[in-house]
Amino acid sequence: MKKTIRKAVFPVAGMGTRFLPATKANPKEMLPIVDKPLIQYAVEEAIAAGITQMVFVTSSAKRAIEDHFDSNFEMETLLESKGRKDLLDIVRGVLPRGVSCAYVRQPEALGLGHAVLCAREVVGDEPFAVILADDLIDGGDEGSCLQQMVDRYQEHGCSVLGVEHVPIEETRRYGIVKTDTPEGRETRVLGIVEKPAPADAPSDLAVVGRYLLTPRVFELLATTGRGAGGEIQLTDAIARLLDEESVLAYRFHGRRYDCGNKQGFLEATVEYGLKHPEVRTDFLKYLRRFCQPELF
Ligand code: G1P
Repeated sequence: MKKTIRKAVFPVAGMGTRFLPATKANPKEMLPIVDKPLIQYAVEEAIAAGITQMVFVTSSAKRAIEDHFDSNFEMETLLESKGRKDLLDIVRGVLPRGVSCAYVRQPEALGLGHAVLCAREVVGDEPFAVILADDLIDGGDEGSCLQQMVDRYQEHGCSVLGVEHVPIEETRRYGIVKTDTPEGRETRVLGIVEKPAPADAPSDLAVVGRYLLTPRVFELLATTGRGAGGEIQLTDAIARLLDEESVLAYRFHGRRYDCGNKQGFLEATVEYGLKHPEVRTDFLKYLRRFCQPELF
């Protein structure tokens, strides 16, 4: 019997050094795209996919994430007294009823695989999602990326990795999969390798920050040694999982913004700004004027 995916793990213990000094005292996952922090987009994607238990793997200096998903009594009282129901709904809507959060600490920065392993006790013996909040994905009309993956899981009952084609010179930034039919939308994973050089990459299909995994991966992670970059890699545990279970690579519909780097972050800011009901009209006018001043 296939189990429902109820839990999502959010590894949020990283330092975010690419965004210093903004991330000196603030978690990178709290950086906003227009008016919402990256971590909230990730949690909303999980909720839209039917997930009700959020598990954050944190480190020191990540208190802001806990505070964000907690209620803010003072602010709510103030907004209530001023009759600002619109803002009250936004504040209360950060974590809808029926959704719960758990926090576990990653005591040492030993890598993504280690971070996921830290969530083992809380997740238990059931399939779960892993979402890396700095990959912001707009699934467009096809539904969120995670929802698309959950649909694949319901159909096949095996682990599912969100993948997309990347320029071959960028394979060093990703886990890269080998599949039987690289052009198919869903294909069986035959191999996976973490951050290969382009010459060693088995394909140009990169794993993005979306995973649906069976709990067997926890047992494998517990005995996975350090890999690329001297870290315990989730990719290496998935490579071992392939010996025992089928794993599906799913080329999702939608657009990914790599908000872990400045270029992707800026692209997301512009494109989400152009979709935001409150600012889109004026922002578009501004961009037109800015890009083609000769027309104005
Ligand atoms: C991690 C994973 C990598 C994956 C990537 C997606 O790398 O280790 O396999 O392709 O996320 O964003 P990181 O970006 O943490 O270096």
